[in-house]
Amino acid sequence: MQGNRIKNFADYKKEYQKSIKNPELFWEKKAENFFWRKKWDIVLDWDFVTPDVKWFDGGKLNITENCLDRHLETRGDQVAIKWIANNPDEKARDITYKELHLNVCSFANVLKRNGVKKGDRICIYMPMVPELAIAVLSCARIGAIHSVVFAGFSSKSLSDRINDADCNILITADGGFRGDKVIPLKSISDDAMKNAPSIEKCIVLKRTNTSINMMNGRDVWWHEELENVDSNFDAEIMNSEDPLFILYTSGSTGKPKGIVHTNAGYMIYTEYSFKNVFQYEEGDIYWCTADIGWITGHSYIVYGPLLSGATTMMFEGIPTYPDAGRFWKIIEENKVNIFYTAPTAIRSLEAKGLDFVTPYDLSSLKVLGTVGEPINEDAWHWYNQEIGKGNAPIVDTWWQTETGGIMISNLAGVTPAKPTFATLPLPGIQTCLIDENGQEILKNSVEGKLCVKFPWPSMARTIYGDHNRFRETYFSKFKNKYFTGDGCLIDEDGMYRITGRVDDVLVVSGHNLGTAEIESAIDEHENVCETAIVGYPHTIKGNGVYAFVICHHQADDEESLRKEINELVSKIVGPIAKADKIQFVSGLPKTRSGKIMRRILRKIASGDSENLGDTSTLLDPSVVKEIKCGVQ
Ligand code: PRX
Repeated sequence: MQGNRIKNFADYKKEYQKSIKNPELFWEKKAENFFWRKKWDIVLDWDFVTPDVKWFDGGKLNITENCLDRHLETRGDQVAIKWIANNPDEKARDITYKELHLNVCSFANVLKRNGVKKGDRICIYMPMVPELAIAVLSCARIGAIHSVVFAGFSSKSLSDRINDADCNILITADGGFRGDKVIPLKSISDDAMKNAPSIEKCIVLKRTNTSINMMNGRDVWWHEELENVDSNFDAEIMNSEDPLFILYTSGSTGKPKGIVHTNAGYMIYTEYSFKNVFQYEEGDIYWCTADIGWITGHSYIVYGPLLSGATTMMFEGIPTYPDAGRFWKIIEENKVNIFYTAPTAIRSLEAKGLDFVTPYDLSSLKVLGTVGEPINEDAWHWYNQEIGKGNAPIVDTWWQTETGGIMISNLAGVTPAKPTFATLPLPGIQTCLIDENGQEILKNSVEGKLCVKFPWPSMARTIYGDHNRFRETYFSKFKNKYFTGDGCLIDEDGMYRITGRVDDVLVVSGHNLGTAEIESAIDEHENVCETAIVGYPHTIKGNGVYAFVICHHQADDEESLRKEINELVSKIVGPIAKADKIQFVSGLPKTRSGKIMRRILRKIASGDSENLGDTSTLLDPSVVKEIKCGVQ
């Protein structure tokens, strides 16, 4: 299985060429490494107009047989999941492949006992404990479609998602530990279920011992149910294109989109990308700090690593509990080799200072990764020098919930890295840039809208219950292309740098300005930690530029700092991009996955701060109050 890893830059180029020349043959070869109940009839059938994409149609398989059963003989006693509790005093748990297989089969029997059938939608609202991964895999084993909702979402977000997918089962826990807080998951679930009549059964894991209500006939305890089942479960045989899961992601407007991924293509691509991007080697300890509630957790905590027979770590807590050295302590204690996290986490830990880093031995690290947002130059160098000690290549991985797997990234130590650049597309990924006239740009050193012009195995197939919206959002802007919604620059060497969402573009005096461009210019100021730019109505320019800026330390003279910042912007981007208003803030409104909620900042900047809409996904709502008070 290690054989199909790309080992040097020349290999990559060859592999990429092969993947473009004959994509069907290329992916068919990869597919042969998996366990199929029946081989496919046709490798690829596609149409980007409808859109309709099928990979390995006619094939029959179960993804859990590939994640678990086929490893039992060769690595049954190897640790599959290494779990670290929120509380450093609580014992870690090691679950071997054999044990995980047994747990998944047993819980699949619990699902069956509670009426679950192939094709049912199961909502999972759980803390980051191994049972979350077990629940996910058990759904896949029985052929039910899992819809994991991040355990930080409100009861309203939860019921909306349950209703959208018409789920009949909810799997949750009494509570979850996060830092010094206990999140009352069952009581939030109770509120959600009041508005979600489709739920027939709620299976509850005991985690925090919080006192909760159990509704007779509807609610059952996970541990009690297990007492009534055995641990044999024949995997349901699925078609390649049967849905595997739904995962909700927010759109630029309207209700969240239930992105649907299917079995075979997702399986093949997550394994391939995992091994190649991280250059996973047999025996490596791999840790991705994401939550399984996001796509990163689905693809690169659960499926990709388990398909590859890796040891994947799961962490229940947060980076700053009990202090800002927690990540580094865990790396030392577990001799982590591959570490994958978000730029937001890196920046926030950088801001806490090196005293939290230097006590720990990080020499086990071979590969570092980032995901989810552009990484700024300063954070990149800090990560490289202070965490990787210059010895661990950083992979900057660009992808989306919709793409299922990593699309553009360097391959650790194998293809060149370049700070702030995701660099090059993976084999099989035919990216292109589109100009304002909708034409493909065929030269380098240009900026455009990032699209993909050929199907790849792990691409989303639809939005649950709304195929029209799927077509409209991704396939109608540019003919025969998947539109990512991101802007991108290709430099003179053909390297890709994601410049941010194109819906974050501001038109000022008739000029297009990328918010990310102005933000990174402001971030160059030595006293600036982070910036968010939004537009606000301006009588002369159409849009004015409003900057919310976090400083390292409070300025003695705010007016002269504003002047210095604008001089920098003029210098780097041009006078047109100068901020009309600069407000110094102590934090920015962010989602739990680290994305700045510009919608809220836009409202505040335009003087409409009473009407902020749904703020339930915010990490720290108190930030908004402070920002409202300081409006310029
Ligand atoms: O704007 C891009 C940004 O995150 C978006 C996708 O968000 P989501 O579906 O939540 O998935 C995040 C985890 C895969 C993209 O459209 N993004 C993701 N990775 C990067 C990035 N922006 C810059 N660089 C990245 N490496």
